[in-house]
Amino acid sequence: MSDSSTANKTPARKITAPKIRALKGDRKIRMVTAYDHPSARVADRAGADIILVGDSVANVVLGRSDTLSVTVDDMVSHTAAVASAKPKALVVGDMPWLSYHSSREETVRNAGRFIQEGQAEAVKLEGGRKRVDMVRAVLDAEIPVMGHLGLTPQSVNAMGGYRVQGKQAGVAYELISDAKALEEAGVFAIVLEAVPDLLANMITDELTIPTIGIGAGPGCDGQVLVYHDVLGYGEGHMAKFVRQYTNLSDIAVEAMSAFFADIDSGAFPSEAETYHMPAESAEVLEDLNKPRTSSLMADEAMER
Ligand code: KIV
Repeated sequence: MSDSSTANKTPARKITAPKIRALKGDRKIRMVTAYDHPSARVADRAGADIILVGDSVANVVLGRSDTLSVTVDDMVSHTAAVASAKPKALVVGDMPWLSYHSSREETVRNAGRFIQEGQAEAVKLEGGRKRVDMVRAVLDAEIPVMGHLGLTPQSVNAMGGYRVQGKQAGVAYELISDAKALEEAGVFAIVLEAVPDLLANMITDELTIPTIGIGAGPGCDGQVLVYHDVLGYGEGHMAKFVRQYTNLSDIAVEAMSAFFADIDSGAFPSEAETYHMPAESAEVLEDLNKPRTSSLMADEAMER
């Protein structure tokens, strides 16, 4: 575990896609996912360079078993929540499955929604040479694009599961060609997910744009993990490449149990947590609310 006290915290100025590109060879790039305003604040305060509003929201927030069911509407809504935190970090919106597969026009319209409605500053999409045409279309609309190669979760059915990609030389060579094609098309960075370190190192050395690894070894130009995995906020299987830095679920259960115990005992709310009425209003209210005898009510009626 690194010494967080030495980490360079939130950068002074807004990070842009060209700045991320320029970080190659300078220092490691820090990227994490986030899906809402408070998590974006946490990531930004800790010094993230890039906040990815990943379609992993499907798994870690919406409780789904894969990412295929999230829509552009879902993603744009989460992206807007993240962007509302006004982070210094670059906000990248993850284009969901089928939002960039059918035509250039639809791809640009969907990517544009991330920018106009979600206030993202770039989009990410999965795939290599097969997607280069769509990458170019988005870039032509002046939207920076991040690539994503290796284990691309939107291809889970085609890949036959979530498996490390590029263990065989032939497949690895194809991935190098994909990375070069994406670079040539103009992406500003590429995520490499679940690939052998040797392959990640080769791609990192060959490209002039940064690679950001997740399960791709230490040689990439940056690293990314899913927010809930870093903080241990969730349950279930953790991939080998995940390092959990705390256990927020346990901390949250402990805090919530203390709240419930205070409800049970009456210790919550306290005097300081309670609103009071000014004394004169209390007097008037008590008077108004006094039980009245029927003769008193009759007297009052006569007086009116
Ligand atoms: O959706 C996501 O969280 C991602 C990261 C794993 C890179 O694509």
